[in-house]
Amino acid sequence: MRTVVVGASGGLGRSIAIGLAQRGADVALLARRRERLEAAAREAGPGALAIECDVTGETSCRSAIDEAASRLGGIDALVYAPAIGPLARLIDTDADTWRRVFDTNVTGAARITAAAVPHLAATSGTVAFLSSVSASLTPPWPGLGAYIVSKAALDKLVEAWRAEHPDIGFTRFVVGDCAGGEGDSRTEFNAGWDLELAAELAPAWVSRGYISGSLIAVDELVSALDAVLRGGASMSVPSVTVTPRPSAKEHP
Ligand SMILES: NC(=O)c1ccc[n+]([C@@H]2O[C@H](COP(=O)([O-])OP(=O)(O)OC[C@H]3O[C@@H](n4cnc5c(N)ncnc54)[C@H](OP(=O)(O)O)[C@@H]3O)[C@@H](O)[C@H]2O)c1
Repeated sequence: MRTVVVGASGGLGRSIAIGLAQRGADVALLARRRERLEAAAREAGPGALAIECDVTGETSCRSAIDEAASRLGGIDALVYAPAIGPLARLIDTDADTWRRVFDTNVTGAARITAAAVPHLAATSGTVAFLSSVSASLTPPWPGLGAYIVSKAALDKLVEAWRAEHPDIGFTRFVVGDCAGGEGDSRTEFNAGWDLELAAELAPAWVSRGYISGSLIAVDELVSALDAVLRGGASMSVPSVTVTPRPSAKEHP
């Protein structure tokens, strides 16, 4: 399975690229930080490719996908993991923040997919987009409005791609809280957050039941992705949800 993982220099994308390689895939790892990518590719094993790509740039997306397709000999599967989620109340979210969030979380997904579609059509391949429970399973979390609205748009984008390309599998992967793996594979999603604001908002996330403290083991996420990607376009899987198992305390 010749697989391109976008957003593979850190967090869940890195865990996914390495985990899929361990399950036998030939992987190309894409993101902006080259050194991080090269280290991740070494961990993924011989033959894994590190290719720089900024999903906010049209040319960067096209050349990275073309390089991946040429060096892998084709593309069977694509995973889209990049997302940014600045922490800010909506009243403090300016137009530039909205643009940055949509550029990475939605338009970037469209750019990369457009570049990869000819390759995926040739192999009846599959694309999986990482989405969030906060866009579809829970009400919007205070402080993450722009991120959640962008993930709701991404969810619709997955359906729109499916409508235009029924020969390719498009799967929305709805993910619950997950710390990722160890070291660079640990999530950095909240790295830039204002900690005082986070402390103000987090009690509402907990009291409303949006977060329980339970986390998904990233390996379970990788196994679910592996099964969907291996099915190819002949196995239609519009949506998969992977959330933490409730603890015995929550559900005796
Ligand atoms: N962690 C969770 O609990 C959780 C829960 C639900 C959903 N998710 C979803 O899972 C995905 C991964 O989350 P994460 O926690 O692993 O985030 P993360 O640790 O912040 O990692 C984000 C990855 O995306 C890449 N990236 C960001 N901007 C990019 C750009 N412009 N071009 C190319 N790559 C870019 C980063 O690499 P570079 O900076 O090197 O480019 C990095 O590899 C996201 O879509 C997120 O919404 C996560």
